[in-house]
Amino acid sequence: MNFITVKSYEELSQKAANLIAAQIMVKPNCVLGLATGSSPIGTYKKLIEYYENGDIDFSAVTSVNLDEYVGLDGTNDQSYRYFMDHNLFDHVNIRKDRTFVPNGCATDIAAEGKAYDELIESLGGIDLQLLGIGLDGHIGFNEPDEVFTKGTHGVTLDESTIEANARFFASKDDVPTAAVTMGMGAIMNAKKVLLIANGANKKDILEKAFFGTITPAVPASVLQLHPNVTVIFSEN
Ligand code: F6R
Repeated sequence: MNFITVKSYEELSQKAANLIAAQIMVKPNCVLGLATGSSPIGTYKKLIEYYENGDIDFSAVTSVNLDEYVGLDGTNDQSYRYFMDHNLFDHVNIRKDRTFVPNGCATDIAAEGKAYDELIESLGGIDLQLLGIGLDGHIGFNEPDEVFTKGTHGVTLDESTIEANARFFASKDDVPTAAVTMGMGAIMNAKKVLLIANGANKKDILEKAFFGTITPAVPASVLQLHPNVTVIFSEN
């Protein structure tokens, strides 16, 4: 594992964007696994800059997102589809029909999960998976559990996750309590994993996840078994 500590969110975003840009340059038709939340916003801003400067071309890129809230469709400004359109896709030349986000409004979430995994498999898997990390160690919305779940599946969000995400909503009561998330299978099969985290409050969970016991109680700890992980951390 390559654990990089940087001095600022700006530097973190720049380095993460450089690694993603390098992936796109090396393999223009790559499959990017993408994340939402506050951590990747700066990275996406840099990628938009690189695109505008003519340094990278998204025209052959495919993306698969990690997760989506159950019950929110893409027109809802709190949905992760909306987030991706707004923070990245609408500003670069990626083909919208090559951007995939799990459907949180699917009537049968189990069937949606199966179809999403089949889609990822049909794409040949993920070349580079971008991840954030939750304060409880979640990646995607794989919450602490007794087992690691392999496939894309429905989850009930932990209280701490609902509290952490309440900052994006008018009130805590508005935060959806369920989500559909890529499982550990697709994440662990990604050829490269890039996890970004910023803020002093993420220090303890990073310590546990990357230097502690590998356990589904700390979902991100499974990444210790992945052969190509880069973590970029900024305390500020
Ligand atoms: C988002 C996701 C989550 C976030 C995590 C950290 O698609 O999968 O695992 O990466 O909750 O969120 P932030 O970056 O807001 O601290």
